Amino acid sequence: MTVGPRTSVRPPYAGTRYPRLAEVPAFTDMIGQGWQEQTVLPDVEPGTAEAAASHRARLSASHPGRTLLFAAGTAPTRNDDAQYAFRADSGFVWLTGCQAEGAVLVMSARPGGHDAVLYIPEPFRPGDSGFFSDAAHGELWVGPSAGLAEWAVALQITVEPLSALKGRRSELRGAHAARSATDLAHEVDAELSAELERSVSILRMMKDDWEIGQLRSAVDATVGGFDAVAREVPRAIAEGLGERWLQGTFDRHARTFGNGPGYSTIVGSGPHAPILHWVRCDGDVLPDAALLLDMGVEARSLYTADVTRTIPASGAFSPAQRAVHDLVERAHRAGLEQIRPGVEYLDFHFAAMEVIAGGLHDWGLLPVSVDEALSPHGQQHRRYLACGIGHHLGLDVHDCSQAHYEDYMGAPLQAGVVMTVEPGLYFHAHDLTVPPELRGVGVRLEDDVLVTPHGSEVLSEALPIDADGVERWVRERLGTAA
Ligand code: GLY
Ligand code: MN
Ligand code: MN
Repeated sequence: MTVGPRTSVRPPYAGTRYPRLAEVPAFTDMIGQGWQEQTVLPDVEPGTAEAAASHRARLSASHPGRTLLFAAGTAPTRNDDAQYAFRADSGFVWLTGCQAEGAVLVMSARPGGHDAVLYIPEPFRPGDSGFFSDAAHGELWVGPSAGLAEWAVALQITVEPLSALKGRRSELRGAHAARSATDLAHEVDAELSAELERSVSILRMMKDDWEIGQLRSAVDATVGGFDAVAREVPRAIAEGLGERWLQGTFDRHARTFGNGPGYSTIVGSGPHAPILHWVRCDGDVLPDAALLLDMGVEARSLYTADVTRTIPASGAFSPAQRAVHDLVERAHRAGLEQIRPGVEYLDFHFAAMEVIAGGLHDWGLLPVSVDEALSPHGQQHRRYLACGIGHHLGLDVHDCSQAHYEDYMGAPLQAGVVMTVEPGLYFHAHDLTVPPELRGVGVRLEDDVLVTPHGSEVLSEALPIDADGVERWVRERLGTAA
């Protein structure tokens, strides 16, 4: 082929309208055929179907005679036709194990229980115009997707195309709809929706063996992520903007070994460590500062870990950092000791706060006695710890959040609960009430804990929590162990 100089001759179709491909029969004929059929199986962890069926049975028993409606939801629009990444609604996933965008679960009441039907959008395949024209669901854009028959086998549930749901609209009038599904039913009663959310939150508090297994995997992957991050500390220090680098390191790990981070990863060096949710992560990693890492892998089943350690970037804590770490560790252990079935949920909080308030008093930081600070009308110690120090953990990092006070904070613990214990002390760099050596020191120690029939099990115990152990662990990863 010879390439000559460009001529100014325009092709005969120049100036015509950009063709709408769906309206060009020659094109639709051409693209609609000649494709080998592909079968894609849903990416579902073993045991998902059985766990979801048992969750539906528990919900069914608590809502006899009511038609119940849940939806996976859809990804929010970022701009134009670009969407944020999709993540299915947790209540829906708990009941179905399905993570298909746009899917809907209808549990219709019948004598003695409910019939469950899962409605899933059919993938746009060759021959459908959406195959090439729908950037969100067309297989030409998003790749081959599992079909309805494959979903039905994987989840052992009746599956229908989402389009068939239209035929049931009158039947769904007045159904109890979860928040994710309120736009699907007519005449939704907001109070009934809230009540359904509350029931699901309460039921989700007790994890079954399969869920506990998923949480263990999430925690194990998270421990691997801490390892990956610690090994990157020298590079993070050397290259600047190190908090961002470490955040990215963990997020890549989470996305590779799970679905992704279970919440925005927190990496705070020095003066950023006391900032409770420092997700901006636009600071350097300071070589002599303590580095707070609050990170959790969300497994592919969507169960998440939530773990925090505060490590010395150099491999050795300063005396002030160590003193704060030791006090938080003592509070942490005091809290953990309270965790067993039958004990009030808040007892771990009160035990940890006693230690924190006592330590702050010894350091001369409390303007009142320990008892006065601990009383409901005091709480002066909370200036340095103004957040909760634990929560239920599961499909959501702050799991079961629609339960009421009396179901959650005001209730006794039961075997099968998984929760975090995460006391901390946060001395901000501009806090004039603390001595200079404490300013800019923030320590949080967060473990994921299973309530067992006779006590508790720390799922994240592979990560040391005492200052000596943390230093050793860091040095091993920095390659500076003695
Ligand atoms: N990472 C959020 C929390 O610890 O609750
Ligand atoms: Mn956390
Ligand atoms: Mn937490």
